[in-house]
Amino acid sequence: MTEAEKIKLLQEAVAGSENAHCPYSHFRVGAAVLTKKGRVYTGGNIENVSYGATVCAERVAIWKAVSDGEMEFEAIAVVSSSTTEAYPCAQCRQVMVEFGLDWLVISGNAKGQYLGEMTVRSLVPFAFTPEALLGDA
Ligand code: THU
Repeated sequence: MTEAEKIKLLQEAVAGSENAHCPYSHFRVGAAVLTKKGRVYTGGNIENVSYGATVCAERVAIWKAVSDGEMEFEAIAVVSSSTTEAYPCAQCRQVMVEFGLDWLVISGNAKGQYLGEMTVRSLVPFAFTPEALLGDA
């Protein structure tokens, strides 16, 4: 991915954060996942009054893609209302692992400024992967 493509994906993540529903934490998160076919799906965190029913922005974006038949990903950009890097939570990391270890997580701030990047592999050492159950490990 070029720098310009990464910045564009971060901007899509900011757009995803605009529809976040976060009245409890006031912590606004946005994500944009780029598929290998070049499509982009965005999401914001969706909180619930029963807190445990909350879904993170990353999973909203990924599940929108998967429900549209897209399961091969190039990268996901994540932004939050914090000024520091937005790192995906452990549950979201495991959801990312479901779709491969060698794709990119790009981290940014609320303005969509680039703050860093890492692979899913680096975020989940010793990952529990689908191969473990499917017998290809
Ligand atoms: N959140 C995300 O959307 N993504 C993350 O990776 C970390 C946490 C959301 C969940 C909740 O709505 C709020 O941030 C505070 O935890």
